[in-house]
Amino acid sequence: METPSHHGRPRGAGIAYRFNIHEEIMSHCDRIDLLEISTEDYIVRERRLGSDNEMSLLREALATFPGVAHGISLSIGTVARPAKWYLDATNRFLADSGLQIFSEHCAFHSVDGSDLTLFLEMPFAEESISWLARKYEAVKAAIGRPFALENVTYFFPVPHCPLDEATFFRWLCEETDATMLLDVTNLFNNSQNHGYDAGEFLDRYPLDRVSQIHLAGGFLTRQGQWEDSHSEPVMEPVWELYEEVIRRTNCEIVILERDSKFHPFDRVMDDIDRAREIFWNYRDENEAPASARFASKSIDENLPDPEAPEFSQLRAFQRAMMARITEAGFREAWARNPADAGAMVGLFDKTWLQRLIDCDPASMDRLANSWKAIEVEDAQIQEEYEQGEWAAWADLLSSEELSS
Ligand SMILES: [Fe+2]
Ligand SMILES: [Fe+2]
Repeated sequence: METPSHHGRPRGAGIAYRFNIHEEIMSHCDRIDLLEISTEDYIVRERRLGSDNEMSLLREALATFPGVAHGISLSIGTVARPAKWYLDATNRFLADSGLQIFSEHCAFHSVDGSDLTLFLEMPFAEESISWLARKYEAVKAAIGRPFALENVTYFFPVPHCPLDEATFFRWLCEETDATMLLDVTNLFNNSQNHGYDAGEFLDRYPLDRVSQIHLAGGFLTRQGQWEDSHSEPVMEPVWELYEEVIRRTNCEIVILERDSKFHPFDRVMDDIDRAREIFWNYRDENEAPASARFASKSIDENLPDPEAPEFSQLRAFQRAMMARITEAGFREAWARNPADAGAMVGLFDKTWLQRLIDCDPASMDRLANSWKAIEVEDAQIQEEYEQGEWAAWADLLSSEELSS
């Protein structure tokens, strides 16, 4: 399946599109270079029904702005094959919208059907790189294009891992042709929350692969942690880092992420204006646009192989970590004897076991509490969705009765 482009090259600084700020975005088209579209808003039925169901607003926006697509459900780090529904739906959406450029998150959040919807950092170890490289190749083949991987904010780095985060990404780039979506706010937050120097990070990070940048605002919690809430203006130190990244890379795409507190919209525009000003200070407006065509192909169902012995302990580690977050019974077993509990999910290797034993306990408790809240919220969403479906059926039946 070939996907022709009907857009100009996405280049410059823009905003993550949300249907509820459609009017504001359209009325500032001279001050926004491009849009980032969250694919899940259009491929997850529950999310789509509650918003721009017919994609009419999106089509209007994409007739005006160049765009890029950003996914959220892949969980590329999970040692399991990529979900077929995700690949099929993403492919359909990319073809339908004409968007060419795609990105996802370098993280894992979904294990054995339980989706935490909060990103967990991959352990900075060779097994992770090896797994990510294979799954990246499979997804790339399925969606017919290379894509960018985003650094996420994380609660804690998995302890006792041999690599630092920047080296981890550099090695990943050596194993694949993935580009990097560098979320500068995530970099700032992680450097503050986990005590490392963001400037030194950039010296080791694969800057030559940075194709996209995210900026977002956040706040400092009372516990002294930075959160990327996507609700505030971009913080001053993030602007400094951003300018450095623009200066040191060939990155062409900058996206401001904002999920709430949209009004007054002038405040949001202030951040976009500033991002554009810095971007265009370092770029030549007259460069010729590149064009590309992509072709997806069906992937070998057996690839990548999550059962391969080399990934068995990474897989078991992920299972045990998710079980500690999502299952009270497993937590009790873990508290009694971690080695016995780990063995229940195949975690035998002493190094991997120790990594999980020494994960920050306060953060593990926070994740377990978040999971309880997510379960309640998911049940509510499901109930509302089912009620909506029943109401639609009832409407349909009564209109058929009336017409017969
Ligand atoms: Fe993201
Ligand atoms: Fe981001």
